[in-house]
Amino acid sequence: MGKPKKRYVCQECGSLTHRWQGQCPDCGEWNTLVEEVPATVFSLKHDLSSGGRAVEFVALDAPLPPLTRRTTGLAEFDRALGGGLVPGSAILMGGDPGIGKSTLLLQAAAAVARTGGRAVYISGEEAAAQIRLRAGRLGAADAPIQLAAATSVRDILTTLGQMEPPALLVIDSIQTMHSDTIEGAPGTVSQVRGCAFELIRYAKENSVALVLVGHVTKDGSIAGPRVLEHMVDVVMSFEGERSHQYRILRGVKNRFGPVDEIGVFAMAGAGLEEVGNPSLLFLSGREEAIAGSAVFPALEGTRPVLVEVQALIVRLQSGATPRRAVVGWDSGRLAMLLAVLEARCGLNFSSAEVYLNVAGGYRLVDPAADLAVAAALVSALADRSLPDKSVWFGEISLAGEIRPVAHAALRLREAAKLGYTSGYGPADSGSGSPDFNYRELKVIGNLVDRVVATQ
Ligand code: TYD
Ligand code: MG
Repeated sequence: MGKPKKRYVCQECGSLTHRWQGQCPDCGEWNTLVEEVPATVFSLKHDLSSGGRAVEFVALDAPLPPLTRRTTGLAEFDRALGGGLVPGSAILMGGDPGIGKSTLLLQAAAAVARTGGRAVYISGEEAAAQIRLRAGRLGAADAPIQLAAATSVRDILTTLGQMEPPALLVIDSIQTMHSDTIEGAPGTVSQVRGCAFELIRYAKENSVALVLVGHVTKDGSIAGPRVLEHMVDVVMSFEGERSHQYRILRGVKNRFGPVDEIGVFAMAGAGLEEVGNPSLLFLSGREEAIAGSAVFPALEGTRPVLVEVQALIVRLQSGATPRRAVVGWDSGRLAMLLAVLEARCGLNFSSAEVYLNVAGGYRLVDPAADLAVAAALVSALADRSLPDKSVWFGEISLAGEIRPVAHAALRLREAAKLGYTSGYGPADSGSGSPDFNYRELKVIGNLVDRVVATQ
């Protein structure tokens, strides 16, 4: 029998090589390749096909216990979770520092505690006095939350083991936790993973809804949320521009529900306020139309949101490289649109600076935004405003065609409801309502004709 070959497994991505290297050839991490114990003589002689216990197979249609959810009383939070907290589930909440994660979770814990559920809030970042101050500001100081500042997972689990399991357990944040059974400082991959594993096991065994706060840094270098995403049932991201008031809670992964619903909040003096009807939130509120501004009927899950897209074009006299700056949209997508406008319509942006902004700190992810962005760009370039009270939507292909998008009728209905009188978009989208003027655009050239012809 030949000598068993050595195998090295990357501790980061799991890839397998037969030669040791300092850097993993797959994920590029350094010093992560570890030799896997070679098959021993024993295991070469004995295979694994007998001696174990038989596992039981289950039928897919076997009766299921109903999935019970606990509503927290924070309607927007519940909506983003897909209807409320599922007992025994683990939720990871990511978001930039200072965006309001601790505030949101303290409010959710207070809401649960007020409706008779037990809520435990463990902070590894702030002292208890600081959190009590915040609770006072939120008007939640009287809520019967069980609050503690702790970072040792052993201490936390020992304490929890001595009491009745709570309905909601918040750990703020997982990067600050440490387990004495694992080597390394808090925040390292092994610590984060190990601590999360212990806490998730406790949550599953005791039907506790667990929320782990996870920090994300710009370059994603902190070992945290990424490695945890596989371990948890739900991944939420709390987003927004810190300089703006609005915050959006978005599902990224959800084993118990859809991920396209969002929760909308506004950060105010007394914490996060729920915004039940966000459709008008991101409009600038200006009455008359101006050049370079287009309204886009975006769709967030089942909720339409009207958003204003603003473009500014500045012609450069010198031969300097012009800037392109984007806030709230994908810059790669902007480059693509500019190229399509140039190639298909002969519009020249190459010697002009292009600035694109989505009003209100909103971040557009809906691909149907292409046409609204193109309309804003063409309008800015021509220095002509788009038709008054109009909305624009549709995906633009590289060939310059305007392609159909999902839920056109829903977008148009919302626009009509809010006093918009005309819509421009792909063919076969229905017309919304009878007094609403819907114009079909087939190719991007139609848009240019339309804008130039409106005056
Ligand atoms: P915080 O919840 O501490 O953010 P995170 O946990 O995500 O780091 O929120 C911090 C910001 O929220 C801080 O800049 C102040 C602001 N804030 C308000 O505007 N109003 C409030 O009532 C509270 C509690 C915070
Ligand atoms: Mg915090």
